[in-house]
Amino acid sequence: MVDYMASFNLVHIFTLLSFIINFVLTQAQWGNLFSGQNCSESLTTPNSAFQSNVKILLSHLSSNATANKQFYNTTVTGTTHSNTVYGMFFCSGDVPPELCSECVANATNAIFSDPDAYPNCSLTTDAVIGYGNCMFRFSNRYFFSKIDLYPYFGSGNICDPKSEPTQKDLNSFLFKTCKEAVDEAAESPIGVKKYATREERMSGFQTLYCQAECTPDLSPHDCRKCLNYLMPAAQDNSCLPRFRLSSCSLRCEVYPFYRPSTAPAPPEPVLLPDSSNTDSQNPLYLSHNCSSSSNKAMITADSAFLSNLETLFSYLSSNSTTKTRFYNTTVDTVSGLFMCRGDLSPDLCRLCVLDATKLIASECRSSKEAVIWYNNCFLRYSDHPFPSTLETSPTYHRFNVENTSSPNLQQRFFTWTLAKALYEAQIDTGGPFKNYGTKEAKLNDQQSLYTLARCTPNIDGFSCQVCLDRIFKNEIPWCCLASPVGKVFYPSCYMMFGLSPANTTDHKIQAKVPATGNLLIQSIFA
Ligand SMILES: *[C@@H]1O[C@H](CO)[C@@H](O)[C@H](O)[C@H]1NC(C)=O
Ligand SMILES: *[C@@H]1O[C@H](CO)[C@@H](O)[C@H](O)[C@H]1NC(C)=O
Ligand SMILES: *[C@@H]1O[C@H](CO)[C@@H](O)[C@H](O)[C@H]1NC(C)=O
Ligand SMILES: *[C@@H]1O[C@H](CO)[C@@H](O)[C@H](O)[C@H]1NC(C)=O
Ligand SMILES: *[C@@H]1O[C@H](CO)[C@@H](O)[C@H](O)[C@H]1NC(C)=O
Ligand SMILES: *[C@@H]1O[C@H](CO)[C@@H](O)[C@H](O)[C@H]1NC(C)=O
Ligand SMILES: *[C@@H]1O[C@H](CO)[C@@H](O)[C@H](O)[C@H]1NC(C)=O
Ligand SMILES: *[C@@H]1O[C@H](CO)[C@@H](O)[C@H](O)[C@H]1NC(C)=O
Ligand SMILES: *[C@@H]1O[C@H](CO)[C@@H](O)[C@H](O)[C@H]1NC(C)=O
Ligand SMILES: *[C@@H]1O[C@H](CO)[C@@H](O)[C@H](O)[C@H]1NC(C)=O
Repeated sequence: MVDYMASFNLVHIFTLLSFIINFVLTQAQWGNLFSGQNCSESLTTPNSAFQSNVKILLSHLSSNATANKQFYNTTVTGTTHSNTVYGMFFCSGDVPPELCSECVANATNAIFSDPDAYPNCSLTTDAVIGYGNCMFRFSNRYFFSKIDLYPYFGSGNICDPKSEPTQKDLNSFLFKTCKEAVDEAAESPIGVKKYATREERMSGFQTLYCQAECTPDLSPHDCRKCLNYLMPAAQDNSCLPRFRLSSCSLRCEVYPFYRPSTAPAPPEPVLLPDSSNTDSQNPLYLSHNCSSSSNKAMITADSAFLSNLETLFSYLSSNSTTKTRFYNTTVDTVSGLFMCRGDLSPDLCRLCVLDATKLIASECRSSKEAVIWYNNCFLRYSDHPFPSTLETSPTYHRFNVENTSSPNLQQRFFTWTLAKALYEAQIDTGGPFKNYGTKEAKLNDQQSLYTLARCTPNIDGFSCQVCLDRIFKNEIPWCCLASPVGKVFYPSCYMMFGLSPANTTDHKIQAKVPATGNLLIQSIFA
């Protein structure tokens, strides 16, 4: 058996799976990447002695999960050998005790209360259930202190080049960081928690976060052996490992996915950004990019283009008075669109579009294409049709960053909470015509975090997820955020977050933009 396992190349099996499977899996709820089940089809009958022992066992697991334990194994000895049930539960090393007990209670309950979601599990003789950050197992055969390769959960190390980090030599970081985490997790003696995390700065502010763990019943030797099955090869391409076996797990991401400590989050309020860093004149305007401004002379001479642009602006501004929050149109060869936040009132949308039209018209008048970003809306035009696939350039960022190698616990809790909220806001964009998602999260007794994820409706739901995923994984300086407010905009999607709902919207716009914006736009061209 051991020889068979040693020659077994798990990584190759995983690489056979397609990117689509990976994508669907990684889009599961936060923390549920490792959810799954493997219930043997060798079944017992309802009300059998074995089945009643399973129920006793599960109640023992569930009740012992309250006793500040991360791992527990037990045996319910039957009247005959075949009625005996062996069982254990395990919570990930970053799960606080109260959440561990809740997770185990939910998990052990789920196989009976939700049989459709767990087919074959309620009557099986051998089950492994991964349920978010905990798992449990029961069997009619003794499995304690043994490495088991089956079942596995998670997406494996298949990668989508579009959403994986753009880091060129990721593999050298990945191998080193994984190895350090594996070495530390495998250090503890038998019976002791085997859990380690490692963070490694790559280029810029991009950071690799790795987590390795084994069930405590393994010996250090077996823990290392189990984790070595999951290690990326040193010369592997840029694929992040995301595996859980029933005895060990290894996962790396480019965002902080594990809780920084099992302790409660620090109660101190997260500091507000330095007010000198906030926008000065118009708090709603963010940035613009007149991408082709180098072609100035040529374009200003092209009066047909300018005339089309003028017509386009008038269409955009006049259509913003209808109730629509997204509008695209083409005038001859010039395409244009505006988009408002999905939860913005029509009045605020209109005011934002009018201001944006006015500003882009005066700032980028000589450009073949341009984009302008506001908190509440954005607007762009181009002498080419907009592609229906995602575009990630030009990009606009607004963050306060501090190049620190050792964020304190409060900062770690903040970025972990933020990652979780933005991830869920991204999931919340699901649904063909929605294209925007929000998520609010509590930071402490006084403060909440507000997040927003949004795509332009001219890209489909799949491209929307890929676009947001790319912002999430490549644009946010997770290691080094120095203020709780930030934004990233691509032409096809954006993400925003802050401590006030006002940081993801702003109702003060009403007072700022004259209701007669349409006239102002016309006067620019007069
Ligand atoms: C824990 O499990 C044991 C059997 O392993 C059982 O006797 C006990 O009642 C369970 N509950 C608690 C709270 O210890
Ligand atoms: C728990 O597992 C250990 C081996 O890791 C075994 O020796 C022990 O008997 C098990 N405990 C119970 C109650 O089954
Ligand atoms: C347990 O289930 C309850 C009710 O469905 C849910 O609110 C809670 O978040 C779950 N807890 C865990 C840790 O899964
Ligand atoms: C459950 O068992 C049936 C046969 O009893 C089998 O066809 C089916 O594939 C099993 N489902 C799962 C998810 O294992
Ligand atoms: C489930 O476990 C069995 C052996 O216990 C294994 O043959 C099968 O491949 C496993 N399935 C998954 C999805 O892990
Ligand atoms: C951060 O600081 C380290 C040295 O402390 C330096 O090597 C690195 O280039 C800096 N990174 C950035 C993005 O400024
Ligand atoms: C909206 O745009 C269309 C062209 O796409 C134009 O015909 C129409 O006049 C504009 N205004 C309104 C209020 O619909
Ligand atoms: C505008 O976007 C282009 C990429 O499309 C980028 O190269 C350029 O630096 C940006 N200009 C400004 C002022 O940000
Ligand atoms: C507006 O965008 C849709 C795609 O969302 C596209 O099918 C349509 O042709 C565009 N309309 C104009 C007038 O450009
Ligand atoms: C975030 O919202 C707060 C409260 O409204 C405000 O004081 C701060 O200036 C906002 N920051 C940014 C960057 O929008």
